[in-house]
Amino acid sequence: MLTSKTLAVNEIIDTSFSKSDELRNHPKSIEILHYLTNKLDPERLQHVISVQETAVALARYHNADVWKVNLSALLHDIAKWMSNEQLYSAVSRFEIELDPIEKIMPALLHAIVGVKLSIELFKVTDLEILEAIRCHTTGNTSMGLTAKLIYVADFSEPNREYKESEQVRKLAEIDLNQAVHTVARHKIEFLLQKGGLIHPNTIHTYNSTFPNKSK
Ligand SMILES: [Fe+2]
Ligand SMILES: [Fe+2]
Repeated sequence: MLTSKTLAVNEIIDTSFSKSDELRNHPKSIEILHYLTNKLDPERLQHVISVQETAVALARYHNADVWKVNLSALLHDIAKWMSNEQLYSAVSRFEIELDPIEKIMPALLHAIVGVKLSIELFKVTDLEILEAIRCHTTGNTSMGLTAKLIYVADFSEPNREYKESEQVRKLAEIDLNQAVHTVARHKIEFLLQKGGLIHPNTIHTYNSTFPNKSK
């Protein structure tokens, strides 16, 4: 349990939440949800709430910090309301350096801009939370527990209509690395099928969690 002094320093409010409702009804969560309600379309908002529920449930299986997971889930699509033009303009305003693939794949930018918006609007400084937002689309070999939970929950929340969703959600309760690997594999398969570009981080995520390397 964190002491009140530590809490003030870390801006982490409490880690003893027992129910998802308590997390979502926390003033900080309400503040973020208020922003999201004004900015996101109802379907996207429902997705975010569902990612929050899924990620927090998985966090309990894996003894993760549910407060960090809660905030990461609520913030992961914070920039999803922006048009491609608005995203590129935010990239320029925040002076973000894009890699060659990011430069031509606007679908990846909401994760990168989302990090900056989370810092600017909600004063998020926790690196685990920022990493989870940053990596939720492509994955990354550096992902810690919070980031892995968000990566998997984003893919497998129950509103996702593809058949792999439930299978990945159940797998994630037992073997999170295997679930990360499966998500990366499905993303690669999907992108190959539609002839899309694949960001190297997705391939690195797939390779680094290959079954005999994930232990
Ligand atoms: Fe996203
Ligand atoms: Fe998402």
